[in-house]
Amino acid sequence: MTSYPWTLVVAVGSLLLIAFGPQSLESQCSAEVQGDTDFQGHADFGRDVRPLLQKHCYPCHSGDEVHGDVDFRLIISTDDVAGEFETWESVVKHLNDGTMPPADEPQPTLAEREPVLAWYLNLIQSVKARPAVLKPRRLSVIEYRNTLRSVFGFDLEVAIIEAEQTLAERSLVIKLLPTDPPGKSGFKNDTHANPLTTVVWDQYSYLIDAATEQLFSLASRPQLESFVGQIKGDRLSSVQASELLRKIVTRAWRRTLPTNQIERTLAKLDGKQDAALVDAVKFEIKAALMSPQFI
Ligand code: HEC
Repeated sequence: MTSYPWTLVVAVGSLLLIAFGPQSLESQCSAEVQGDTDFQGHADFGRDVRPLLQKHCYPCHSGDEVHGDVDFRLIISTDDVAGEFETWESVVKHLNDGTMPPADEPQPTLAEREPVLAWYLNLIQSVKARPAVLKPRRLSVIEYRNTLRSVFGFDLEVAIIEAEQTLAERSLVIKLLPTDPPGKSGFKNDTHANPLTTVVWDQYSYLIDAATEQLFSLASRPQLESFVGQIKGDRLSSVQASELLRKIVTRAWRRTLPTNQIERTLAKLDGKQDAALVDAVKFEIKAALMSPQFI
């Protein structure tokens, strides 16, 4: 068994599922699960766990009858078992608390529950830390545009010449970011399905550079002065630089932060002057706007 890649097993399994329906697949796959030696904790799933599920849980959690989004019959391969870690956690909790099966249903005996609990203990002890797919939440495109606007105080617009051809969309943010897929709820601000791809990441980087350049441009001087007061000559004083960074970072993170976190950011400007000071401010603004607190 060890030499077959799991994808193959799953693919073959799926074909069988289509051909013969779930019933016939079951016996075949419990053998797969039992035969696995990589995951000690999963090895006895077919022997220790499935019988109880079949007897007490399948009536409401498989096939046509699926309550609470839990279909135990779909948990077939070792990978499925491993991937359902949170389900097992709540299964064990239900068994211990006597909350599943519901009170008016026949309850599993202690002898039936014991192997499941032992299997679970074994499972949590055998699980090794594995890199998982990190799915950070990100703002929807519209939220991103609005938040960027409230941080900088202006909208980033498509360059004029281009805008004349495509007047319909003036926002550079909306033009550059990929359209959000509809979330499970169907609302645009349901961002659970929005992937944080490298494309999105690149565009964020570009948009923030564009916004900071615009903020420091001569044309936006009034905007910059609205953050820091009147600017003498064409350089920010270090007090003004700190003031600007503090305001932008506070707006960007959108929550009250421990003062030491802001102080740590402001400390990055220490000892810098003139062009180096402006560069440092731009860099810290970008760091804040590319951080998980912002996106
Ligand atoms: C008579 C039907 C019935 C049986 C039998 C049953 N359940 Fe449920 N189960 C439900 C219903 C209904 C829900 C949805 C409850 C809700 O959404 O509040 C549910 C939800 C769940 C959930 C998901 C929600 C949560 O609280 O975690 C889990 C896990 C679960 N059941 C486990 C089990 C297990 C394990 C068994 C067998 C030992 C079992 N159930 C037997 C009806 C049943």
